Amino acid sequence: MALTNKLKYFPTTFAWGVATAAYQIEGAATIDGRGSSIWDEFSHTPGKVLSGDTGDIACDHYHRYPEDIALMNHIGVTHYRFSVSWPRILPDGDSHHINAKGLAFYDRLVDTLLDNQIIPAITLYHWDLPSELQIQGGWLNSRTSDVFAEYAQIMVAVLGDRVKQWITHNEPWCTAVLGHLTGEHAPGVTSKDAALTAAHHVLLSHGKAMMAMRSTRNDLQIGITLNLSQVYPDQPSVESIRAASLQDVFNNRWYLDPLFVGHYPEELIDIFGKQPQFLSHDMDLIKQPLDFLGVNYYSAQVVAPSGDNESPWPVRHVTPKDRITAMGWPVIPKGLTDLLMRLQRDYGPIPLFITENGAAYPDEIVDGRIHDVDRIEYLSDHIEAIADALAHGIDVRGYFLWSLLDNFEWAFGYSKRFGIVYVDYTTLERTLKDSALWYGRLIHDALSLPLNPV
Ligand code: FCB
Repeated sequence: MALTNKLKYFPTTFAWGVATAAYQIEGAATIDGRGSSIWDEFSHTPGKVLSGDTGDIACDHYHRYPEDIALMNHIGVTHYRFSVSWPRILPDGDSHHINAKGLAFYDRLVDTLLDNQIIPAITLYHWDLPSELQIQGGWLNSRTSDVFAEYAQIMVAVLGDRVKQWITHNEPWCTAVLGHLTGEHAPGVTSKDAALTAAHHVLLSHGKAMMAMRSTRNDLQIGITLNLSQVYPDQPSVESIRAASLQDVFNNRWYLDPLFVGHYPEELIDIFGKQPQFLSHDMDLIKQPLDFLGVNYYSAQVVAPSGDNESPWPVRHVTPKDRITAMGWPVIPKGLTDLLMRLQRDYGPIPLFITENGAAYPDEIVDGRIHDVDRIEYLSDHIEAIADALAHGIDVRGYFLWSLLDNFEWAFGYSKRFGIVYVDYTTLERTLKDSALWYGRLIHDALSLPLNPV
């Protein structure tokens, strides 16, 4: 059934948003007292980011935010998820030194969004740790979790009167694995022990931040965003099912279980050779009730046993690659429906937001237009997958498309375009892609259906 026939499943209160992150779009890296972050250092280290790209200028959103908000308004989005640059607020990672100019930027941003009837949702940590905190051990030092809670409290004290939806962390898996195990992301550490410890301190910081934010205001919706991926066995054999279960522990349960059940999965020992070490009280902090769970979904995985005793990882990916994005990620919309149903079954009931979903494709401007049909198809199929989950009674409250703008795609620099708005990195000119026009029409249609279920 086409998506248009399923729009009736989206309640009129559904959040139709777009998402971005500070380091990927803001630029203005040394302006108005901003301190350095681990991503400034990493991107300036030769060989870490494709073509030596950095976020120094990015989309210059710091200066062009009125134009970007006007674009969102033109498209017709109802919500906007953005992240706060921690080093803009605490330039030297010390909560006794608050940068007023940094706070003022987010104050202006929020007010301009509200003037445009766009509801803001804030992510506190989208990977740009202040460099000074990294010098003190970063996520390997439990003290970072205390500073994070202080920073969260500062932000809520300033913006909590106008911003009600807060996300503590974006994708702790990436902080732990890409940042501390494979080293593809800042700070570029490569150690199993470090990944386990970083993951724990990130979760701990989430718990401490929730407490600090709740003690400041009691009218906030606070959650965390995980990058989750449905894992399927390639066949119903015991070995394949075991492989899928281990991959699921690594990608999903490592975070879901402590947050919702209050302990780490036992199988972490099979992956890391040991269990995380922590104080018994930590789990009480981590397991506090969430107001919602943010889900970032891009793809699913099909796995088989590696069958190779020499291999350090007993799981082999056999995901079909007949339909892939420019990242090489397989397009599997059904995985999103299955994932949402699984979350409600295993961890629910919990309000869910899709806090990221989208795709990179090699866009080209032709006569001032970008005919990004592949992206429209990707988005349409995934929004339809959400409709299917809603039809099954799953409590999905919103969708934040990744991303508003083409931007700095981490280790891939500017080579991957995820935006529904094209950015010319020489002139910084913005052009709506066909997908932006399509998304605007979809939102309009979804909101104008007269008989939406409440
Ligand atoms: C997610 C990140 C986001 C962006 C997308 C493509 O993992 O949260 O910043 O890079 O992937």
